[in-house]
Amino acid sequence: MGRCSDCGEWGSLIEETVAAKGQKSTKPAPTRSGGVTALKDVDVSQTPRTSTGIAELDRVLGGGLVKGALTLVGGDPGIGKSTLLLQAMGNLASQGMTILYLSAEESLQQIKLRAERLGVSTDGLYLLAETHMEYLDNARRELKPDVMVIDSIQTVGVSTIQSAVGSVSQIRAVTQNLMEAAKGEGITTFVVGHVTKEGAIAGPKVMEHMVDTVLYFEGERTGPYRMLRAHKNRFGSAQEIGVFEMEHDGLRPVTNPSELFLSQRADGPGAVVVTSLEGSRPILLEVQALATPSIYGTPRRTTIGFDQQRVAMLCAVLEARAGLALSGFDIYVNVAGGVRVSEPAADLGVLLALASTVSGRAVPSDTVVVGEVGLSGEVRGVSQLGIRLAEVEALGFKRCIVPTRDLERLKNLSADIELIGAVNVSQALERASLNFTRS
Ligand code: TYD
Ligand code: MG
Repeated sequence: MGRCSDCGEWGSLIEETVAAKGQKSTKPAPTRSGGVTALKDVDVSQTPRTSTGIAELDRVLGGGLVKGALTLVGGDPGIGKSTLLLQAMGNLASQGMTILYLSAEESLQQIKLRAERLGVSTDGLYLLAETHMEYLDNARRELKPDVMVIDSIQTVGVSTIQSAVGSVSQIRAVTQNLMEAAKGEGITTFVVGHVTKEGAIAGPKVMEHMVDTVLYFEGERTGPYRMLRAHKNRFGSAQEIGVFEMEHDGLRPVTNPSELFLSQRADGPGAVVVTSLEGSRPILLEVQALATPSIYGTPRRTTIGFDQQRVAMLCAVLEARAGLALSGFDIYVNVAGGVRVSEPAADLGVLLALASTVSGRAVPSDTVVVGEVGLSGEVRGVSQLGIRLAEVEALGFKRCIVPTRDLERLKNLSADIELIGAVNVSQALERASLNFTRS
C-alpha cells in the first residue's frame, strides 16, 4: 500500500518483517530466577575509562570510553563524523588497542588516503569495506577487536531481512546485533548515523533508546566550527559539548571556545557579547543584529543561530516596553562563528543588540550582557551566574549587565568586574547607554 489508510498520507508506510508462525524465539530463556542483588552490594569501582586522545570527545563521552558501550554518532552528511572517528581510532590503536572499522560508504583506498591526511597511524587499525552484517560478524570473531566502528548504520544490512538497507527493521536488527556484541563480548562500539535537518531521522531515531550514548555532531558545514553534543548518555552528563575546528588535516579540538568565537569581534553598533551555558561550560559569543528599512509589506525577521520566534518576541517587547518603533525595519540576527544559542539567558543581549543597531549607538565593547527577558519587559534571573561571570572575567571583560535579582544572591562574589543590575528592559537600555527618547 502506498497510502496510509488511517491518516491518508502517501509514502509514510514502513515495511516490517513479521516472524513466521511457529518460529521459535531465538532469545535464551533466563537461567537464574530471582537473581537479585542488593543495591549496596553493587560494585562500581570497575568502570575504568579509556581516553580517546581527543579531550573534547572524552568530555562529551563523560570522561572517556567505557568498555562495551554502544554509542551513536549522528549528524548531517559531510559534517565530519567519519573524520572524528578515524582520528579517535588512530589514537586508540596507538595505545595498543585493536580496532575494526567497517565502512560501507567508502572504499579501502579512500579510507587509507584520509588516514594519511589525518596523520593516523595504521597499526592495529583493521578495515572492512562491506555492506553485510554477516561479514562483520565473521571479522569480529576472527579479529576480536577492542573497539568497532560501523560507518554508517544506513548502509549496512542483515541479509535475512527482506526490507531495504536503511529501513527501520534493518536498522533495528543491525543495532540488536551490535548491542549483543557490545554487551556480550565487551566491544566498545561506535555507530555512525546520518541525520538530515529535513527530518529524515526515522532510521537513527529508532536506535536512540537502544544505545547507551547518543552524540550529535552539528555546525554549519560551510563554516569551520563543529560542536559535538551529548543527547543521551548512560555514563555521564547529557549536557556536555565539545568544540572542534575543521582544518585541512582533520578536526582540531578547541579548548577555549569563547576566545575563538570572540577573536574576530566587530566593534560598533549592533554587536553584543552574551553568555551561553553548554553543559557545565560557559561560552561567550557575539550576537550581531542589523536593522534596515523595510521595502516590502511585511518586515522580515531573519535569524541565524538564534530562535526566530524569540527575536519576534524581543522586538515586540522593545516596541511595547521601551517605545522603540521596529515595524518599519527588516531585522537580521546572527550569532558569530556559526554557533547556535538556545538559552534564554542570551535574550537581553539580543535585545540590546537590536536597540543598538536601531539607535546607531554601540554597547561598550568591554561589557557582557546576561539575562532572560519576559513579556512585561522584566529581566529574569539565569542559572549558574557565578560560573558565567568567571568566564567573563577570565576573558578580560570589565563590566557585565546582569539581572538584579541574581545580583542580590551573589553579594559575596569576589569578581573583579563591575556588575550592573537591571530589573527591566528600560533599565538595561539606560545602563548600557542606549536609552532613547520615547517616540
Ligand atoms: P566526513 O568525516 O567525511 O563527514 P561525514 O562522515 O560526517 O559524512 O567529512 C567530510 C568533510 O570534511 C569533507 O567535506 C571534507 C572535510 N574535511 C576537511 O576539511 N579536512 C579533513 O582533514 C578531512 C578528512 C575532511
Ligand atoms: Mg562519513
